[in-house]
Amino acid sequence: MFPAVSRAGTAAPGPGAQAAGASAAAAGPATATASPAAATPAVTADPYADGSAQAGATKAAVCFSCHGPDGNSQNPAFPRLAGQNAVYIAQQLHLFKAGVRPNPVMQPMASGLSDQDIDDLAVFFAAQTPQGLEADPSYWQAGRALYLQGDAKRGVPGCVACHGPLGRGNPAAGYPALEAQQSVYVVSQLQQYANGTRYSGTDATTATPNSSIMFDIAKRLTPEEMRDVASYVQGLR
Ligand code: HEC
Ligand code: HEC
Repeated sequence: MFPAVSRAGTAAPGPGAQAAGASAAAAGPATATASPAAATPAVTADPYADGSAQAGATKAAVCFSCHGPDGNSQNPAFPRLAGQNAVYIAQQLHLFKAGVRPNPVMQPMASGLSDQDIDDLAVFFAAQTPQGLEADPSYWQAGRALYLQGDAKRGVPGCVACHGPLGRGNPAAGYPALEAQQSVYVVSQLQQYANGTRYSGTDATTATPNSSIMFDIAKRLTPEEMRDVASYVQGLR
């Protein structure tokens, strides 16, 4: 009933691709100093390898009240999980569980999950089709320009470089999908990256092998740019 792989399943990383995040760090610019600190929980090796979408469908029942029955949440502050890549979902669940991504709602949800639960849930949500709200007609055109071109003068790269032309992310590198993501949630995450509160710990900006990338980018965005680009990605399919 549920496909065993995500829509992007063919791009799942091979064994060891996520080990210590070395390959992901190498794939992004200027992350040489972002070594996986001791505080960083082990990044999941490869949820596609042993995760079962069918087992995940049962385990996901407790998530549906907030994230929606197929991972398409109805509450704009709750992220859409449908179609998100499994590597990223699993990574973030480990981070909530370890308290590195502090969130009073998600920490208790993640604390009781085993590694197998996390892999099953990640593969289940990755296999669902994202649906949702359209882009806001007032903002998405400015948002598209930023998404595609960035602003070289201020050192803002186009989001497309890592999140992809359709916002599907990069499963092999663990870069999250943004397609159809709730714009309210996107703005809140950009603000958290910009003010350094998305992760806790001794060096919050390097909490994950990839996180320093978004801290640097988000700091350079104006509130209007965050609003515009969030509106654009909400409409991406
Ligand atoms: C009571 C509501 C609620 C429930 C139940 C819930 N979540 Fe969440 N979840 C949230 C909220 C709110 C956030 C956003 C946290 C933030 O702003 O950082 C979130 C974030 C997440 C994220 C991070 C998404 C991203 O794009 O970074 C994942 C993954 C996730 N939840 C998975 C789950 C799973 C799996 C379950 C079930 C085991 C679950 N959640 C149950 C409210 C909930
Ligand atoms: C060089 C690669 C790269 C570029 C360019 C990039 N991102 Fe990201 N983005 C990432 C990575 C990697 C993450 C996950 C970081 C982490 O570990 O927290 C991420 C995470 C995010 C998240 C959080 C997603 C979630 O589900 O919680 C948002 C929102 C986001 N990026 C928006 C943007 C926007 C908007 C732009 C363009 C202005 C952009 N990104 C440019 C790599 C990139």
